[in-house]
Amino acid sequence: MKVTVVGAGHVGATCAQRLVEGDIADVYLVDIADGLAAGKALDLAQAAPLVGHSRRIEGGTTYEPAAGSDVVVITAGVPRKPGMSRDDLLATNGKIVTSIVEQIAEHAPDAIIIMVTNPLDVTTHIAMEVSGLARERVMGMAGALDTARFRCFIGFELGCAARDVQAMVLGGHGDSMVPLASSATVGGVPIAGLIAPERLEEIIQRTRDGGAEIVGLMKTASAFYAPSAGVVDMVASILRDEGRVLPASVLLRGEFGIDDTFVGVPVRLGAAGVEEIIECELSAEEMAALHASAAHVRETVAAWERLKNA
Ligand code: APR
Repeated sequence: MKVTVVGAGHVGATCAQRLVEGDIADVYLVDIADGLAAGKALDLAQAAPLVGHSRRIEGGTTYEPAAGSDVVVITAGVPRKPGMSRDDLLATNGKIVTSIVEQIAEHAPDAIIIMVTNPLDVTTHIAMEVSGLARERVMGMAGALDTARFRCFIGFELGCAARDVQAMVLGGHGDSMVPLASSATVGGVPIAGLIAPERLEEIIQRTRDGGAEIVGLMKTASAFYAPSAGVVDMVASILRDEGRVLPASVLLRGEFGIDDTFVGVPVRLGAAGVEEIIECELSAEEMAALHASAAHVRETVAAWERLKNA
């Protein structure tokens, strides 16, 4: 199994590390910055005898070595700075992602694409448009991360292990995301009976602001440990045909009453990519929030269409 990771910055290099050290796949790391991917790949290869895996990892600036990849993860682009929204990255990252997907379509046309670059739902839309791939094979990683943040904060609140918290965050990757509090449980017990509504509202807001909180703390970088863990969960489910159910940004064609829009919903991930979109029951309020989130994604796609043609 082989994964190409595009972008050898914080998120990409950490993805590469998790993939090889977790014995999930061989990795080709590519970055536009001369020597960056090759240097980090060599460093990771030299850690192998210490960490104890036998995965191959190489790095470079060209796309020919991406040939034969089962999955391509795209993390290239600029991250946020304090005070910026993800949408502020659109002009720069839209162009970067377009040029990368053109290369991937040429050299690794059979790969499944997992997008990470922000603004996530729009860059995933761009990846599908430029690659011409079927919708099952192009998805964005956001819900896995937003859900992990929500579970982490609920775990903090209850003093429970976050892995025992089951929850889901749907919608676009931004201020309009939709954490589903009504169905969240810990060890099978609904959290609604354990956390007061006003406190739960604060946890939901902290989840929405989860990325900004970290940018505010680090100032010169954005989050990468949890984002890369979210990517690797998705990659592993595809390569091992595990059928994990995770939220991911996928193209909806009528599901949840939303058409022709990439937005985060629960999906089953296996060898074919997105093998099922799971249309779970939502309350009227959650459904309205999901539709509002989809409308925001459509507005940002329209902004990209204007930028692209300007
Ligand atoms: N082709 C390949 N690599 C590129 C290109 C390009 N056209 N343009 C930029 N890059 C590389 C940069 O050289 C850099 O090494 O992308 C890398 C980005 O790394 P960081 O600046 O560390 O950013 P990171 O924190 O990894 O975030 C990357 O993921 O979570 C999102 O919002 C985040 O959009 C951002 C992306």
